Amino acid sequence: MSPPDGHSNPTPIAWFGPHLTGGEIGRLRDVLDRQYINDGPLAREFERRIAAIVGTRHAVAVSSGTAAIALALMAAGIGAGDEVLVPDLTFAATANAVRLTGASVKLVDVEPVRFGVDPDAVGAAIGPNTRALVTVDVNGRGADYRRLECICRDSGLVLICDAAEALGSRYAGRMLGSFGLAGCFSFSANKTITAGQGGIVTTNDDAVHDRLRELKDQGRRHGGTGGDDLHPVIGFNFKFTDLQAAVALAQLDALEQRLAAAVRRDNLYAERLANQPGLSLPPYSEPGEVRQWTDVLIENRAGVCAALDAAKIGHRAFWLPLHRQAPYAADERKFPHSTDISRRGLWLASRFDLSEADFDRIGSVIVAALRR
Ligand SMILES: Cc1ncc(COP(=O)(O)O)c(C=O)c1O
Repeated sequence: MSPPDGHSNPTPIAWFGPHLTGGEIGRLRDVLDRQYINDGPLAREFERRIAAIVGTRHAVAVSSGTAAIALALMAAGIGAGDEVLVPDLTFAATANAVRLTGASVKLVDVEPVRFGVDPDAVGAAIGPNTRALVTVDVNGRGADYRRLECICRDSGLVLICDAAEALGSRYAGRMLGSFGLAGCFSFSANKTITAGQGGIVTTNDDAVHDRLRELKDQGRRHGGTGGDDLHPVIGFNFKFTDLQAAVALAQLDALEQRLAAAVRRDNLYAERLANQPGLSLPPYSEPGEVRQWTDVLIENRAGVCAALDAAKIGHRAFWLPLHRQAPYAADERKFPHSTDISRRGLWLASRFDLSEADFDRIGSVIVAALRR
């Protein structure tokens, strides 16, 4: 993508970006020709394709990953007066989605190797009002469902999985998004498949599926003329349009190649960054796991970020732990792992169009910064 060109005026490398295939135009033209641009047949086709990939009976497309999490919780009956456990290391959307339902958030620390919610901490956090756990499959790594599914079953907790960053990735031989009562995906601009914005809920539960259809469309399960439709329950407008579906479907045709490219990208980085002092590459432990971006843990993250900035190479620091965000402020001492991972975690440039020369350039900038 960008040839090495000395230090004075290096070609910028963006951290990530939508990778449009060109097939979007043809699909969008069909939608425009049909003159139906609302939530329609293409959105249904997209739902069928995602359900087939994830291996669930249903998929319901909605306006964002945040909406997917909120509606999945609402469909499970979670709301005001309930408490929901949320890992401390995640994008704010996970907790904000819980608040959208009216439920309260209780933060839980994560485990240090795979960054998912710590099952022991979940067990310790369950109180009299705890009704649900939202796990996060951080960057395509499945949370510890081997234990978490049992804990939720034994404690009567609803398990909703935030798989926003995990489309196509596996855990324990199963696709992420197929664990718990429902899985929630995002199609925002930095995801493997993007519709600009968008989300989907995957579930095997027929009743949850029916509730989701009502919740996303003003309480109706079937749209009619729009005038004299029946709205037997309260719902909202969280629809996903055929315009979005057209863009997402075109990319979905390339999903397998993108997943393979993500694995190759991690390998190419690993070749360049293995055994570097002060940098560790989080290990793979699950067959079929696919990381959406390449992540590393760096002791002197600020120094490496400064070097990448100077070389105009994009990167993204891990999220601040939620307990350090004003709405969720909590005592740092309860979250040693998320605090440590957040301080050291860095997502490296992970665009799908990086060349071998780009990996060489990024790798040498990082290695030089580590040795400084
Ligand atoms: C872990 C995680 N959860 C939830 C979301 C929310 O998705 P969206 O931005 O589509 O609302 C995202 C992505 O943005 C995410 O990365």
